[in-house]
Amino acid sequence: MTLEEKVGKTLDELGVSDAASVEALFNEVRARMLEELDSFKRLGGRTPVWKPDVSRPESSPYRPGTTPDNQGPTFQFPSTRLRVKWLGRKSGILSSIDEHWLKPAPKHLKPIVGRAFNRLRQEAAVEILGEAAVAEGQAPSTTAPDLTLPGYRRPLGSIHPVMRVQREIEDIFLGLGFSIETGPEIESVYYNFDALNIPESHPARDDFDTIYVDAQTVLRTHTSPVQMRAMEKYGAPLYIIAPGKCYRRDNPDSTHSPMFHQIEGLAIDTDITFADLKGTLDFFAKKFFGEKVRTSFHPSFFPFTEPSGEVAVSCFACDGQGCRVCKQSGWIELGGCGMVHSEVLRHGGIDPDRYSGWAFGLGTDRFTMIKYDIPDIQLFFQGDVRFLEQF
Ligand code: DAH
Repeated sequence: MTLEEKVGKTLDELGVSDAASVEALFNEVRARMLEELDSFKRLGGRTPVWKPDVSRPESSPYRPGTTPDNQGPTFQFPSTRLRVKWLGRKSGILSSIDEHWLKPAPKHLKPIVGRAFNRLRQEAAVEILGEAAVAEGQAPSTTAPDLTLPGYRRPLGSIHPVMRVQREIEDIFLGLGFSIETGPEIESVYYNFDALNIPESHPARDDFDTIYVDAQTVLRTHTSPVQMRAMEKYGAPLYIIAPGKCYRRDNPDSTHSPMFHQIEGLAIDTDITFADLKGTLDFFAKKFFGEKVRTSFHPSFFPFTEPSGEVAVSCFACDGQGCRVCKQSGWIELGGCGMVHSEVLRHGGIDPDRYSGWAFGLGTDRFTMIKYDIPDIQLFFQGDVRFLEQF
């Protein structure tokens, strides 16, 4: 008679009527349990076993589309099988023993059967449940987890408004065939000044005062040095934009910050003229601020461009009528631009007799302030979530 058959019969039917044979019977059950546990451990406890869904004979583990959840065919780990076989509520061996041996046991045997049964049950819980937990990668737990505790909430961050605008500007130029180039924020004096036609004695250096890491190294004051690096790296023709952080000795106020962002643009090719610069910036302004805006250029000075200009856009908020956004002028200044100085091309290893180019530099923080009507540049760098959460 198999063990499964034995647990389906009463002690009476099995002819067990004294303490010694009860003991022997339980020992047999216990031995069998440990044996099965042992072979489970030897198998590594990790080999899944195909358990066909008897209610759906057509199901097969190899049929595409069958999933191992509740749709019929399932894979079970041996630990699960062991648990179900021994501790299963309905037809587990321990439930059968309780049902057929303990409950109907004659009075004089009941305490003995009860004690033996309890010992077996405790051992099974430790051995099988403990073992199953280890096999499935969890430590056996002594206290039940409190499932009513709230879970961990990890708040999602958002993209910083300045980065959002930077990406928007990048996208417009990527669409025009430009590529994105970056450079170091700790830059050599040569790239930041000399190569851009700002020699040591030039007064323009005063406007670009910054932290000197040593006599030859500065925190870059603009993104223009990326122009030089790109020219050296790729030569001509060249179409790049260079976004990034810049540093200047500025006292922080609502429109100044010692650290700020710029986007540099540079196009070098044969036959590039000021008309290309105007056309490109006009296209860009319309994409960014809306199709109705107009652009205006007026002369300016930068050592690295000749001629140089400032570009302004008609106010997108009042259509040039004058309002708070444009400070009643009808126009919003966007940044500097010009035709790349022949000396700068030469420093970059590009022949100015063959190639010409234009460049511009825009303040990304300023663009963001205009776009979102933000009155104070400091808000960008204070890390206040109440502000940042709004984007
Ligand atoms: N580098 C200039 C600045 O920081 C901005 C600028 C003006 C860049 C004209 C350019 C340019 O490339 O052509 O003020």
